[in-house]
Amino acid sequence: MPETPTGASSADLFGFQAPPPIHAEFDANARIVMYEGDTAGYLTTLPDQTVSLVITSPPYNLGKDYEDRASIEHYLEAQARTIAQLVRVLRDDGSLCWQVGNFVEKGEVFPLDILYYGIFKRMGLKLRNRIVWRFGHGLHASKRLSGRYETILWFTKTDRYTFNLDPIRVPSKYPGKRHFKGPNRGQPSGNPLGKNPSDVWEVVARDWEEGLWDIPNVKANHPEKTEHPCQYPIELAERCVLALTQEGDWVFDPYAGVGTSLIAALLHNRRAMGSERDADYAQIARRRLQEYFNGTLRRRPIGKPVHQPTGKEKVAQIPDEWKDSPLSRLLDEREDYR
Ligand SMILES: C[S@@+](CC[C@H](N)C(=O)[O-])C[C@H]1O[C@@H](n2cnc3c(N)ncnc32)[C@H](O)[C@@H]1O
Repeated sequence: MPETPTGASSADLFGFQAPPPIHAEFDANARIVMYEGDTAGYLTTLPDQTVSLVITSPPYNLGKDYEDRASIEHYLEAQARTIAQLVRVLRDDGSLCWQVGNFVEKGEVFPLDILYYGIFKRMGLKLRNRIVWRFGHGLHASKRLSGRYETILWFTKTDRYTFNLDPIRVPSKYPGKRHFKGPNRGQPSGNPLGKNPSDVWEVVARDWEEGLWDIPNVKANHPEKTEHPCQYPIELAERCVLALTQEGDWVFDPYAGVGTSLIAALLHNRRAMGSERDADYAQIARRRLQEYFNGTLRRRPIGKPVHQPTGKEKVAQIPDEWKDSPLSRLLDEREDYR
């Protein structure tokens, strides 16, 4: 089949001619559904056991302009009702990935993944990993340590779940290692496809030795940035899609924002659906889906190394005014730090 620049085929494995229609309501035969409205209403239209992967970053009351402020208890009660519906529509072999950070109020930190864990556990889900998504940039705190990670709680509905390790392997630290005893003595001991990426996600060319995945947070200079204040990178969702679903499966983001999870699903021949109540974000999501099909979507390819400063950039140099500062002396002592 001929390929477009995005990798989308002119007739895909579902038999759709690209671009397939974006349905506004659930249709079991669709490839893409983008519902504009409240997720609670949309969920009532979904049959039981439909979705293979629920992946989302839910709204949390950090006072961002798309969120209502509600007390944490009320917020969690409302979320529990939605989660019960998500569990109902999840297939028995399906997974749920819940991406959250911290809620901070008056300097106090409320770790949302800890607060959410009990809700999922009460609904019978089993935690398989608490993935730490680490990123290098953000606000500098002055009264506590600066926050540099968020988490993804990956739950399954049963013990019989899809897990594809090979598509998400990362390069091994020592691919040349060999068995030093036993029947395979002298043979390479690693896996030619790479190693398990671990539960700390960072992709950095120079930092392979740390074994981390660094998926840059979506900020102003990121190619995927839209008007949405709180997108996650496509790559983050792609890893979950690849590992936890098969081609043709439904991937559902109940808080779809600008459609990041849906793009990740389409990139890997899965069916994509999302619900988003903000009309502007839903419109951007539809636009990005169209851009994906016509080959103009701006995105950071999966696995692309994160830019590492060489130390020669102006912003990496100590300002002249700080030449005698403790920082400058520290850097002189620690050549490796440069
Ligand atoms: C953290 S953002 C998700 C961003 C998304 N991951 C992306 O990359 O674009 C949460 C989204 O949920 C939407 N939202 C909040 N409450 C909703 C509801 N009850 N139903 C549908 N969408 C809702 C907000 O408008 C917001 O866009």
